[in-house]
Amino acid sequence: MPHTLLVLNGPNLNLLGAREPATYGHETLDDIAAICERTGAEHGLEIDFRQTNHEGQLIDWIHQARGRCAGILINPAAWTHTSVAIRDALAAVELPVIEVHLSNVHAREEFRRHSFVSGIAVGVIAGLGSDGYRAGIRHFSKLLKG
Ligand code: DQA
Repeated sequence: MPHTLLVLNGPNLNLLGAREPATYGHETLDDIAAICERTGAEHGLEIDFRQTNHEGQLIDWIHQARGRCAGILINPAAWTHTSVAIRDALAAVELPVIEVHLSNVHAREEFRRHSFVSGIAVGVIAGLGSDGYRAGIRHFSKLLKG
């Protein structure tokens, strides 16, 4: 059975491609999903790629990952900076987590420098655009091989 990686995307990421392209680039969320599927296939990982604008939905998906997924790659988007609930959900399921951001959150507004998720993540990737998702999946493949 191949390992399944849950790739979660938070609010407004459904607008990628049209949303602030100077900051987030021209790739759409479908483009990023395709990149993730391809990278996963190269490494023998199944990718379960999702996006929601509803915090409770994201929390439910995190809970459902327990016993079903081998790890979670998450771009929590704005919830990165606001949500104790998402951090607690990720901590509760005890799965390895990698946090990813398309933009370099440290080179932007001050409020983007704090993440509630980073403290429980294996690692954090920011500023590499969709390459960050690729790097995260590659790292999971190493991690899961032991
Ligand atoms: C983001 C950075 C967040 O600060 C922002 O709220 C987003 C996207 C990124 O991928 O660069 O929505 O997570």
